[in-house]
Amino acid sequence: MSEALVEIDDLKVHFPIKSGLLFDRTVGYVYAVDGVSLKVKRGETYGLVGESGCGKSTLGRGLLRLVEPTSGGITFDGTDVRSLKGEEMRLFRRRIQMVFQDPLSSLDPRQSVESLLVEGLKAHGLHKDKADVQKRLKSTLDSVGLPASALNKYPHEFSGGQRQRIGIARALVLGPELIVADEPVSALDVSIQAQVVNLLGDLQESLGLTYLVIAHDLAVVRHISDTIGVMYLGSLVEEADGDQLYERPLHPYTRALMSAVPVPDPQVEDRRERILLAGDLPSPANPPTGCRFHTRCPWAQPTRCADERPQLRVFDDSGQRVACHYAEEILSGELKMHEVRAEIVRPDSDTAPDVGAELIQTRTDLPAP
Ligand SMILES: Nc1ncnc2c1ncn2[C@@H]1O[C@H](COP(=O)(O)OP(=O)(O)O)[C@@H](O)[C@H]1O
Ligand code: SF4
Ligand SMILES: [Mg+2]
Repeated sequence: MSEALVEIDDLKVHFPIKSGLLFDRTVGYVYAVDGVSLKVKRGETYGLVGESGCGKSTLGRGLLRLVEPTSGGITFDGTDVRSLKGEEMRLFRRRIQMVFQDPLSSLDPRQSVESLLVEGLKAHGLHKDKADVQKRLKSTLDSVGLPASALNKYPHEFSGGQRQRIGIARALVLGPELIVADEPVSALDVSIQAQVVNLLGDLQESLGLTYLVIAHDLAVVRHISDTIGVMYLGSLVEEADGDQLYERPLHPYTRALMSAVPVPDPQVEDRRERILLAGDLPSPANPPTGCRFHTRCPWAQPTRCADERPQLRVFDDSGQRVACHYAEEILSGELKMHEVRAEIVRPDSDTAPDVGAELIQTRTDLPAP
């Protein structure tokens, strides 16, 4: 099964920044998603990672047209999603459902579980046959590991993990083909996270679902993703098969993310490469020129990095894709890490740029991977 269910082509979502009380003047844009192309294969999981604010949620919402993309293409099962209108779009929405981070805030506390689940059915006119609805609700709850008695309870009567099960049931009850899970376990205790991740895996197997799982934490997507895409400031900087990405991260940003994930083996842990990124994520309203990572990249070079934007390119026949001018030289060890002084750029603040705020820590005693 390698057919793409979802194809996103050079998708851009730019939010206008307005100013002025009388004249609704656009004074700039937040380049939240700025040219992302990816494919999600049917029956597989695509894990999208990157630090908070890099545009992951906007990409997920843009895919469902909950925010209208500025440009680019979206194809779902052969349908051009961006050309759908009115009733067509409403029918289409049933095929893609979202699961959100915080089950409490996405569930209305005054509604019983039954009414929360029926709500979606109503929106699609699927609530008319009472017996059929009851059967559907019970089997959906059963599939997420909740008893039928949960129907008469309210969200606050459940634990965090159970509430996320209700959130998942709410998505499942409409029989979707794709689930966009935006930080589905970020609000849960670590001990509960694995249970919910395993549940998503089991449901995928039994129902043949396709997932786009969004997380800021690489550890969360690792075990469930067939493909992982790493996002930085509105674009994909690397994409690979999950195992491949772990074995051979190519992009400096991926290596930094990876270096933040502890390894259970103490010996490996001691020798692990640690790259502490200097400074904050630059503002997506004023992204750096050239490679958007050059202000924080420990391998940045005086040529090309600051003025030529690297395209996401296929690296070799493994299919791994990377957006870095120097991926080959970094991998071979020809280029070494250097210290980076962070330049914190806050165009919206009154203060002058704070240069040299933090120093990147690098380990130079390590062999190249
Ligand atoms: N509706 C909106 N209007 C303006 N800016 C937005 C809107 N939604 C998100 N943004 C901005 O777009 C950027 C990406 O946000 P988001 O997609 O939520 O990132 P992530 O999910 O990776 O944390 C952020 O700078 C955020 O402030
Ligand atoms: S292109 Fe340059 S700045 Fe960007 S990731 Fe590669 S080495 Fe770093
Ligand atoms: Mg988000």
